[in-house]
Amino acid sequence: MKHGDVTRRAFLKTSAAGAAAAAAAGQIRTARGAEAKKDEVVLGFIGVGGRGTTLLRKVVTIPGIRVGAVCDLRSERVAAAQRVAEQFKPKGYENFKEMIEKEKLDGIIVATEVANHAKVVIPLLEANIHTFSEKPMDSTVEKVDAIVKAARKSKAIYQVGFQRRYSENFIKAIEKIHSGDLGKVVFLAGDWQFTSGVGGWVINVEMSGGKLVEQACHHMDVMAWVMKNQHPVEAVGMGAVTVEHKNPPKYTAEDHSSVVFRFPGDIIFTYTHTSYCPEKWYAEKLWVYGQGWGINLSAGELYTPDKQTVKIAESSDYYVGTGEQLEDFADNIRTGGKRKPNSNAETARVATLMALMGRAAFHNMATNRYESRIIKWSDLGTTTDA
Ligand SMILES: NC(=O)c1ccc[n+]([C@@H]2O[C@H](COP(=O)([O-])OP(=O)(O)OC[C@H]3O[C@@H](n4cnc5c(N)ncnc54)[C@H](O)[C@@H]3O)[C@@H](O)[C@H]2O)c1
Repeated sequence: MKHGDVTRRAFLKTSAAGAAAAAAAGQIRTARGAEAKKDEVVLGFIGVGGRGTTLLRKVVTIPGIRVGAVCDLRSERVAAAQRVAEQFKPKGYENFKEMIEKEKLDGIIVATEVANHAKVVIPLLEANIHTFSEKPMDSTVEKVDAIVKAARKSKAIYQVGFQRRYSENFIKAIEKIHSGDLGKVVFLAGDWQFTSGVGGWVINVEMSGGKLVEQACHHMDVMAWVMKNQHPVEAVGMGAVTVEHKNPPKYTAEDHSSVVFRFPGDIIFTYTHTSYCPEKWYAEKLWVYGQGWGINLSAGELYTPDKQTVKIAESSDYYVGTGEQLEDFADNIRTGGKRKPNSNAETARVATLMALMGRAAFHNMATNRYESRIIKWSDLGTTTDA
């Protein structure tokens, strides 16, 4: 399915509902001018660095979306983003509070560094502004909880950038697992062989939560999804810094880690995350085991007990779902914002806390040492368990 096809179909389907949607959105802070085309969704951006720019480039290709304003603390990034979206002549800001005060936006896309999510997302949700924020939710349990509480209270959409939840490939394969036709899941395994591209603030645990949290949270999300959004009960792990870093921060993120999680029902998930593998080894592996069968989620393949390989979905990668999640965010706004996003406060909470749990199993922030511990879910001290 081509990205543009989805967009046009979704756009045509919803265009008739535009006026009703605008009315339904009345309780949401959406002060679009009467001159705005009724099916046009006006989006703003906060944080237009690497990821924010990638999302902006996608958004400008989606019919029915106008970019109203862009914001970043760095003026050169504001200017660059204005050039990317030049057909819309978006206003530029360096202060997001000023942007939401002055602009008539239907929704906002947040792509700040991980530790800067809560301070932006919470005021948006409190103002009932539809918000799409990048993953993971934030870098600490306390801030994740604070966002969850704000999202549960808010009348606005809160969608989180776990794009695999919008990939038809993952959706189909996980539906197959959840159908129960194959029998029960007995074991999970995964790894991410990543090349040395991850740098900058990501190697600072205080900013990113660590690499397992910043990056592998995507895979935590997928396996929690396979487990019907249950959280693991415990984790044990090892992680280490073995690469020489220029100007390492105090809390240097792990270069490699291996974590084992135990989900309810004694379902074990073993996971290895590396950051400096040779280009040739770059790969994402997400395997779900049953008794005699298995599903390779990244390849979209089912291996049956009678040794058949059955294609159940296209193979997936890191990027699949990126455009679809943005289309869905805009569509949800267009139709009144009543639909719970596939990747929402509750699912993203489990994924982010699971990643923080894994990190805590190998990195002790109190001593700033990489040492192994068994961490129970209850050790996290989350205050948002239902
Ligand atoms: N879903 C994915 O596949 C994917 C891929 C890459 C990154 N990400 C996520 O995207 C987010 C951003 O990552 P990045 O690599 O683009 O970081 P980045 O450093 O390139 O960009 C972050 C930008 O946010 C700006 N910023 C911070 N606080 C701000 C504020 N209060 N107001 C306005 N601007 C502010 C910074 O100035 C910076 O330009 C992170 O959460 C990261 O984990 C997701």
